[in-house]
Amino acid sequence: MNPEPPPRLLTGDTPTGKLHLGHFVGSVENRLALQHRYDCYFIIANKHAFTTRADRPADIRQSVIDIATDYLAAGIDPAKSHMFIQSEVPAIDELTFFLAMLIPFNRVMRNPTLTQEIRDKDLGDKYPFGFPMYAVGQCADILAFRPAIVPVGEDQIPHLELTREVARKFNQLYCGVDPRTEDVDNVKRGGLFPIIEPKVGRIRRLVGTGAPGPGGELLKMSKSLNNAIFLSDDADTVQKKVMRMYTDPRRLRISDPGETDPDKNPLWAFHDAFNTDAAWVAEQRDAYRNGRVGDVVIKRKLVEILNALIDPIRTRRKHFEDRPDDVMDALKQGTARAIETSEETLHLAKSAMKQDYFGRSVFLK
Ligand code: TRP
Repeated sequence: MNPEPPPRLLTGDTPTGKLHLGHFVGSVENRLALQHRYDCYFIIANKHAFTTRADRPADIRQSVIDIATDYLAAGIDPAKSHMFIQSEVPAIDELTFFLAMLIPFNRVMRNPTLTQEIRDKDLGDKYPFGFPMYAVGQCADILAFRPAIVPVGEDQIPHLELTREVARKFNQLYCGVDPRTEDVDNVKRGGLFPIIEPKVGRIRRLVGTGAPGPGGELLKMSKSLNNAIFLSDDADTVQKKVMRMYTDPRRLRISDPGETDPDKNPLWAFHDAFNTDAAWVAEQRDAYRNGRVGDVVIKRKLVEILNALIDPIRTRRKHFEDRPDDVMDALKQGTARAIETSEETLHLAKSAMKQDYFGRSVFLK
């Protein structure tokens, strides 16, 4: 008898740049820890990148390669995990169309991640039709793989809530699942789709290296805010970014150093996230609050810690940068597997919907 196959895990990234430390603590770290226990699928959501940069296809292509290299450099094992390119997996799009019929338009437009993105990126009412559609597409990205868990950053939770809603609806409409069924029992009661569990990273929201925003709150690490430390930064760049990190200007008033608030200083958020010596952090934070220790010492320590974390990633990155064919091979192998798994789901979905007229196969060349 075959042993039970391991449960599946799905997550991924939109290729709009390289991965940074915010991605690392929000999700990548979880993936590394879980890749031995789960059958992992990592989607590089290149179609989603077209929502805001349809005019820059070459950048998107480059970013797909960068993200794949970032995954491998971070320690994703291509012999175990399947990283794949969204646009090469047709079942996802086909499922998107069917799922779109089960989600009220107004429900999509109330998705807080979308409304936030419209605000942050100043999209006004000029966003393309495909922009809200990506939220439905993300439900299909996930459900095509019927995963048990989806590790994501906190900002993705609204998308996962929509995914849970549409999965329940599908199961009720097409698989005869009673609406009163508990989420965990959906599949047991004949539902095709599991009601997925989000898994948020250890650090819910990593701040960036810059000054607080107008409201005094520290801003999230993000490439577009120019406050990110990338997994691909060299040791010197990490050092420069940390040494230049925002410091409360009141620190500079030697006469009155006691006023400083460590919570307004990204330096401490970084120590909380990356320094494993919690006793040291607590002690130094106190000393800092009372003006007994300066920024430079604390920053130097952080440089040391971050470079120790990123160093093995740099070594693996160099390996893969010298072997671009290996990166493409890993992507192709992962994509082939993703096609296989998602075709199986699509076939089951179509039969539940009584639209299974013919069988078919999809292959990569
Ligand atoms: N929207 C995610 C991001 O920008 C990327 C993504 C696309 C994703 N499809 C997904 C994440 C499915 C998790 C599951 O980071």
